[in-house]
Amino acid sequence: MRTIDEQGHAFEEWLTPAQIASDVRQVAACINKDYADKTPLFIVVLNGAFIFASDLLRQIQCRSEVTFIRVSSYWGMASTGEVKFIVPLQEEVRGRDVIIVEDIVDTGLTIHHLKAYMRANEAASVRVATMLFKPDKLEYSDAQPDYIGHEVTNEFVIGYGLDYDGFMRNLDAIYKVKK
Ligand code: IMP
Repeated sequence: MRTIDEQGHAFEEWLTPAQIASDVRQVAACINKDYADKTPLFIVVLNGAFIFASDLLRQIQCRSEVTFIRVSSYWGMASTGEVKFIVPLQEEVRGRDVIIVEDIVDTGLTIHHLKAYMRANEAASVRVATMLFKPDKLEYSDAQPDYIGHEVTNEFVIGYGLDYDGFMRNLDAIYKVKK
């Protein structure tokens, strides 16, 4: 099992590239089935979701558009409890079937805010696709994701887009912090 050290913390490999690829295939299959006759607008939440989104979107078969939004709520290994829109959404969401693409849903604060934004701007529907979901940490019931690659317990994870203070996003596997 591969291990890695970042800023004095040891991390060990948890999901291999092959396991991740299988999770992404399963999420794509569900979206392809549900949106076969629709034209969804994928809104990718930067920075963390860029790798998941690029793998997922290449497996989407329905006609679709993709755009990006950049938000920040984490500092180190903990949520700040505040969501900052660093790069706002340029596209019109009114009447669109929106699929928000996230790297991980933790407390659900980010999704809670994004869903409120989509509602206020009259999206026709809003669903959430996330690579990882921490069900035990969820604090906002409206942030329950619709498409989940893998559930994770309360440990901090890095790799495949997920960072620790901006680093380690480029790892090809997902690593868990060692206790
Ligand atoms: P939430 O708003 O509390 O659901 O947190 C969502 C955001 O927090 C994610 O998009 C990540 O950027 C970050 N985050 C939450 N948990 C982790 C983790 O275990 N590793 C790295 N980033 C995380």
